[in-house]
Amino acid sequence: MKPTVLESPAEMQRLARSLRAAGTTIGFVPTMGFLHEGHLSLARAARRENGVVVLSIFVNPTQFGPAEDFGAYPRDLEADLSAAESAGVDYVFHPQPADMYPSRQLTWVTVEELTDGLCGASRPGHFRGVTTVVAKLLNLVQPMRAYFGEKDFQQLVVIEQMVRELNFDVAVVRCPLVREPDGLAMSSRNAYLSAAERKAALVLYRALQRAQERVRGGCKDPVRLRREVVECLSGEPLAEIEYAEFVDSRDLQPTGAVDEHARLLLAVRLGDTRLIDNALLKG
Ligand code: PAF
Repeated sequence: MKPTVLESPAEMQRLARSLRAAGTTIGFVPTMGFLHEGHLSLARAARRENGVVVLSIFVNPTQFGPAEDFGAYPRDLEADLSAAESAGVDYVFHPQPADMYPSRQLTWVTVEELTDGLCGASRPGHFRGVTTVVAKLLNLVQPMRAYFGEKDFQQLVVIEQMVRELNFDVAVVRCPLVREPDGLAMSSRNAYLSAAERKAALVLYRALQRAQERVRGGCKDPVRLRREVVECLSGEPLAEIEYAEFVDSRDLQPTGAVDEHARLLLAVRLGDTRLIDNALLKG
């Protein structure tokens, strides 16, 4: 059955209240739309574990910088509704910016420290926009479980911190990153890539694989590993490295030694498109 579309935040909140009053568990998948297999894997996980699944589609203006791609961000509501239906989504919450931000927003949710580095360094204000909109969405949808992918790893850790520290009554469910058959991490922004950039984008996966192989082979020195990762990424002429960092997955701080918590996080530009990827480095 096609999901029911709700546009009004007040209507969404009324529905959530009545579902909860009836004892129905709500699983929530927040997205910005242009759904791909990564989003659908979250929706299917929510389907398995909850009575009702709500998926939001909202390209959130407050998490884009003035020079970023808010206007160009890909949108296709009809295709999204069919995809959501195929994953068993019951309700799609699709508000407009003016509904979510009816007046000048004076209240913001900020997670400190975890948002300073990595994507936070090159996208000032980005995580403030993400945490604020996710807090608003959680208050509107009132889910028992909310599903986030490990593709946006920093975002996931930031949201977990916010949920813990602000006592949101929700379990954040981590879901694995989903890749294309050739290894490219699925992302709505892959739609921006030219054929040459799409091919060049595979360098991110190659760099992650190279690091994983080296760690499996016994190399635990993050400085040496980083040098090799940068060398691998630099071998692709279309790729411009924004960062390549070995961090502790629990606090996103640079890791001194590659242990079971170490994760390699990458951000690379291909032309105008910024791609991120990451992998755990199991020894
Ligand atoms: O990951 C995303 O798509 C967005 O950052 C989110 C969590 C839906 C908030 O706008």
